[in-house]
Amino acid sequence: EQDILKQLPLRGKKVLITAGPTFEAIDPVRFIGNHSSGKMGFAIAEAAANLGAEVTLITGPVGLQLEHSFVTLIKITSAQEMYDAAHKNFESCDIAILSAAVADYKPVNVADQKIKKKDENLSLQLTKTKDILASLGAIKKHQYLVGFALETENEVENAKTKLKKKNLDLIVLNSLNDKGAGFKGDTNKITLIGKDNKTIPFKVKPKTEVAKDILEHIIKHIHA
Ligand code: CTP
Ligand code: CA
Repeated sequence: EQDILKQLPLRGKKVLITAGPTFEAIDPVRFIGNHSSGKMGFAIAEAAANLGAEVTLITGPVGLQLEHSFVTLIKITSAQEMYDAAHKNFESCDIAILSAAVADYKPVNVADQKIKKKDENLSLQLTKTKDILASLGAIKKHQYLVGFALETENEVENAKTKLKKKNLDLIVLNSLNDKGAGFKGDTNKITLIGKDNKTIPFKVKPKTEVAKDILEHIIKHIHA
C-alpha cells in the first residue's frame, strides 16, 4: 500500500483547470467563438486525477467526455461564466492550470431577437472580456498558477511578458510553428517557462504525454 501511495504525488491536492473555448452571444442563435477542442485541458485533468489529485475542470463547449470519478466537471458557455466558476473554486485550490482559449472580446449588446439580414454591411461593437488568468494572478496566495500562451511571433519573449504581467508561476508556450502542434490535433509542442525565466523545450508529443510533462514539472516545483 505504501508504494501505491508514493506513486500518487498529487494526493490531497486540489487542482483547478480551465479548458476549451468560450462562446460569446451575439443574439439568441449566434455567437463569437474559436476552434479550441479542449483536448489539452481534458488531458491535464485526467492525468492530474490519475496522479491522485482532486480535480475541478471548468470547460467551455467541447465534444469531449470524462469518466474519471475524481474530476468534477463544470460546464460553462461564456467568458463571464468561466470567470465566475474559476473564482468560486480558486481559493480552495492548490494548483490552477488555465488552458482555456477564452474569447478576448464579446459583443457590447446581445440582441433579444435574432438579428435580421438587412444592410450590405453589419458592424458589431465588441468589448474586452475579463482576463481570468490575470485576475487570479492578482489575488493568488499559496496557489501555484499556470497559464498558457499561444503566439505566432516573438514566442518566448511574448510568453515571458505574459508570465510576469499575469503573476504566474509557470507558462506553457504552445508552438504553432511546428508540425503536429495546435488547437485541434492530438499532439502539441510546448516550451515551459518558469518564474526564473528558464525555458525548457519539449518535442512534439501526444497531448496525453504533454499533460504528464506539465504536471511532472509542477510536482517538482511545488515540493521544492
Ligand atoms: N486567459 C484568460 N482569460 C482571458 C484571456 C486569456 O484566462 N480573457 C488565459 C488563457 O487561458 C491562457 C492565457 O490567459 O492561459 C494566455 O492567453 P492568450 O490568448 O495566449 O493571451 P492573452 O493574454 O489573451 O493575449 P493575446 O491573445 O493578445 O496574445
Ligand atoms: Ca487571447
